[in-house]
Amino acid sequence: MSAKFQSIRGMHDILPDTIHHWQAVEKVVHAVLGRYGYQEIRLPVVETAALFTHAIGDATDVVSKEMYTFADRAGDQLSLRPEGTAGCVRAVIQNGLVARGSTGQRLWYQGPMFRYERPQRGRYRCFHQIGAEVFGYEGPDVDAELVSLTARIWRELKLKDVRLEINTLATRETRAVYRDRLFEYFQDHAADLDEDSQVRLHKNVLRILDSKNRQMRPLIDNAPILLDHLDSESKEHFEQFRQLLDTAGIEYQVNPRLVRGLDYYSRTVFEFITDALGTQGTLCGGGRYDYLVEQQGGPPTPAVGFSMGLERIVELVSFEGLENSHRPHVYVITKGALAGQAAFGLCERLRDELPWLRLMQNAGDGSFKSQFKRADRSGAALALVIGDEEVEQQTVTLKPLRNNDEQSNVSMDTLGRELNEWRDQSRF
Ligand code: HAM
Repeated sequence: MSAKFQSIRGMHDILPDTIHHWQAVEKVVHAVLGRYGYQEIRLPVVETAALFTHAIGDATDVVSKEMYTFADRAGDQLSLRPEGTAGCVRAVIQNGLVARGSTGQRLWYQGPMFRYERPQRGRYRCFHQIGAEVFGYEGPDVDAELVSLTARIWRELKLKDVRLEINTLATRETRAVYRDRLFEYFQDHAADLDEDSQVRLHKNVLRILDSKNRQMRPLIDNAPILLDHLDSESKEHFEQFRQLLDTAGIEYQVNPRLVRGLDYYSRTVFEFITDALGTQGTLCGGGRYDYLVEQQGGPPTPAVGFSMGLERIVELVSFEGLENSHRPHVYVITKGALAGQAAFGLCERLRDELPWLRLMQNAGDGSFKSQFKRADRSGAALALVIGDEEVEQQTVTLKPLRNNDEQSNVSMDTLGRELNEWRDQSRF
């Protein structure tokens, strides 16, 4: 009995009819990252489960509820990566890229990430991120650089109405004092906490600030805020960061409740948000994680980064007028076995001669009519028709497919020149 399989809930195929949208977005992002001197790093999709638990924090939703974790055949606990930072930190430590005395690193990566979340618009179980991570610089200049390059990406993609929210989570020490203060406050109001926040109170009190429950709003709005209790170092870092954004003309809102969903952050955090996508409007999130490299066994190394969700960006960008660059220029139609064979050789010769040409030869038999239908569907502008007669005379019939231009007959020897002319006259 044959079985019909379905992709896993929340995991989608990206099909050829929209792949050029993805590629257009990726091209812009890669180009901007390149212009700022960032280099690509490719990382495995699977890592030791403990890497994520340790880096992201076992009280976070990502680790406690959303990880795809399994034992491999040797019994080792592995996880599909829910994000890219932890693996990137592992890689830079393991490969000596942040060894003592080394200069800084500006890196980017891209690929699928996996989280067992409830799927909805803009939220998937397999989604794609492009992320950037910078190691070895403690100043706010790299924080501002990451934000500016992201803002540039939105401009180049012509995305409007993306707002930037920023906050600081201060140093470990300051945050610990603040956490106690916050704990006291919420404990005093324990009866008003919803179920989720009751759990967060004891696991990670800062995450209560991130609650999406509207009824919790008044309580959260009255909670003490970290910005009022900053140490001088964090305060200065944040002020300089803001000044750099001002210098670059980047607008932002300070959101004192912005805490992010992963535990590794300190000092600067930021999110780019849009209202155009419903509830899943965060396009990009990031911040500093100055303690993570050391915590993962590397030398003390300040670090900062972000990642953006490609599904959300692709949904938002307008691709009007963008041509699918995979559309063939030419579709080759043949009649008869002899012509099929001759055409095969001719096509290979044309691909040698004209590297720019996208040429598709009809596969499988078919009447002229059905081959022309396929040619039409391929999106090609021109059909080359080769029958036994053409082979005998060493010619090819050129049949324009997009307009009513007359068909013509060209010698196989001069076909390359003819196709170059078509291109020069922008007829493809
Ligand atoms: P994050 O906020 O968890 O941060 O994710 C970054 C972005 O990935 C989100 O803003 C969103 O656009 C996208 N995203 C997250 N979950 C989903 C989902 N289930 N479906 C679709 N898109 C999603 C991080 O991952 C950090 N590693 C960012 C970072 C890098 N911080 C420092 N360096």
